[in-house]
Amino acid sequence: MSGIQNITLNEQDELIILDQTQLPNRLEYKTMRTAEDCYTAIKNLEVRGAPAIGIFAGYSMYILMKEHKNMAYNDFLSKAEETAEYLNSSRPTAVNLSWALKRMVSLIKEMKEDTTENILSSMRNEAIKIHQEDIAMCTKISEYGLTLIKDGDTVLTHCNAGPLATSKYGTATGPIFLGTERGMHFHVYSDETRPLLQGARLTSYELSKAGVDVTLICDNMASIVMKQRKINAVFVGCDRIAANGDFANKIGTSGVAVLAKYYGIPFYTLGPSSTIDFNTPTGDDIPIEERNPDEIKTMWYKEPMALKEVNCYNPSFDVTDHSLLTAIVTERGVVYPPFKENLKKLFEK
Ligand code: MRU
Repeated sequence: MSGIQNITLNEQDELIILDQTQLPNRLEYKTMRTAEDCYTAIKNLEVRGAPAIGIFAGYSMYILMKEHKNMAYNDFLSKAEETAEYLNSSRPTAVNLSWALKRMVSLIKEMKEDTTENILSSMRNEAIKIHQEDIAMCTKISEYGLTLIKDGDTVLTHCNAGPLATSKYGTATGPIFLGTERGMHFHVYSDETRPLLQGARLTSYELSKAGVDVTLICDNMASIVMKQRKINAVFVGCDRIAANGDFANKIGTSGVAVLAKYYGIPFYTLGPSSTIDFNTPTGDDIPIEERNPDEIKTMWYKEPMALKEVNCYNPSFDVTDHSLLTAIVTERGVVYPPFKENLKKLFEK
């Protein structure tokens, strides 16, 4: 494992992030001081990946509320609710963001009778707990994922669901990192992931640094490597899993799922149970973030690659239908169809 820290609360109690927009060329760290810093870091994908956004939201609430330590309880709670609402408006699709923010605000509500000093100390512990829980969840997800492949296999992945998108190991590429640590050998085809190139900039970077045999391909090459029988399994992450097993992940994921079904390749999504949203009945109910067209037209080029007047549609995520999924891998176990029933059972255990 590369051991790169994406989110840290340092010894001075400051929140530091690795600015992922600068990878793979520069390791640049940023200190988060204001609510705007935290909002912008999420919005601009300086910190990204559903679980990492949740971890970051926990720490953000703590460092931002520290500035209001002298407020009376009611004002403190109102400020926390306002801050959570503001941060939550940064990106709509990944449920981990609202999940972590709600968890921090609920804690404040539970401590109504306590001093602000004690509340802040508990908020700090809670944020660290969210982070540590994610490490434990990713480790278990990686263990379960590893049972689905064998030494020497080749896995295709889309976007980035490794350590940079989580805490440690990651979800979709977690089994690869864990297996590699144990002396196993895997080959990974990493889709570059247009338009923001998370696969090129982040996934191939992480895997390569960890000594994994990784091959970068453009998104439209997934079909040929599947047809050539180079792929044993597809592992992708998830930003929100609806109650029926439909799930949102980076734009392009559903196309990869359709291809995998056509070529008879097992297709798995891997994510923590905090990604499962029982309040979202189906994929149609998942809000899909739309981003700036410049990410397609101009962002990576010396000159614009389309005329200014050309319309552009830039949805950041798509929804994969549960019928295309072989299984969902969580820290609680591997869930097979029928997903609606079996996802519920997962929480009854
Ligand atoms: O827009 P991004 O880079 O935040 O999108 C990330 C993904 O789609 C990941 O696959 C998902 O968040 C899971 S990360 C473990």
